Amino acid sequence: VIADLQGLKKGNLRLATITTGKYFVPRLLGEFRQEYPGISISLQIGNRQQILDRLANNLDDLYFLGKPPSNLDINIRHFLENPLVVIASRQHPLVNEKKISLERIIQEPLIMRESGSGTRMAVEEFFNENRLQMNVEMEISSNEAIKQAVYGGLGISILSLYSLALEGVHGPLAVLDVEGFPLQKHWYIVYQKSKQLSIVAQAFLDYLFTHDEAVSIAQIFRKPL
Ligand code: PGA
Repeated sequence: VIADLQGLKKGNLRLATITTGKYFVPRLLGEFRQEYPGISISLQIGNRQQILDRLANNLDDLYFLGKPPSNLDINIRHFLENPLVVIASRQHPLVNEKKISLERIIQEPLIMRESGSGTRMAVEEFFNENRLQMNVEMEISSNEAIKQAVYGGLGISILSLYSLALEGVHGPLAVLDVEGFPLQKHWYIVYQKSKQLSIVAQAFLDYLFTHDEAVSIAQIFRKPL
């Protein structure tokens, strides 16, 4: 018991998340840290491929990602829903249109995440399934830079709805009403089966599943889309 308490007073917590996790993991850490002020926390952020590499090399305690890999011996826990939405500048002519067709949307210049991104993988899969060719204007490896480019009128993009967590859906960027969207994706928390979770990592895992509601879509975007 004393060792347990010491573990929670002093331990290290090493987390790694795909880039869109930056919109909810740090929020969750705030309160957890207040409960356990002595622990030190590191949070690595990378795209899907970078996070999978870290996972394969067992560098962190817990990983947040979409679509768990099938080639690794890992524990997988479903965490939150991750809707991917089409975003445009508030001034874009399609903003007030209803049920925009995919044929119409592919005429717009699209700003895409880089290869290695899980968001990009999901978007490519979707357009391949629908046998449509995207009109990729530019590739940018940062959700925030994409948002600025969309705001600047360079094109539209498809990102996690969570990327609008701070400004909401009534701010400078709008969510377009496009057929087939949002793409309903999910996030998972995974860790190596061979890994004995530290007391701190186990406490954080338990914490996540009792506090997930606080960072759910319903909570963050109180109004329906
Ligand atoms: P990414 O993350 O686009 O930053 O790789 C999304 C995911 O893997 O779900």
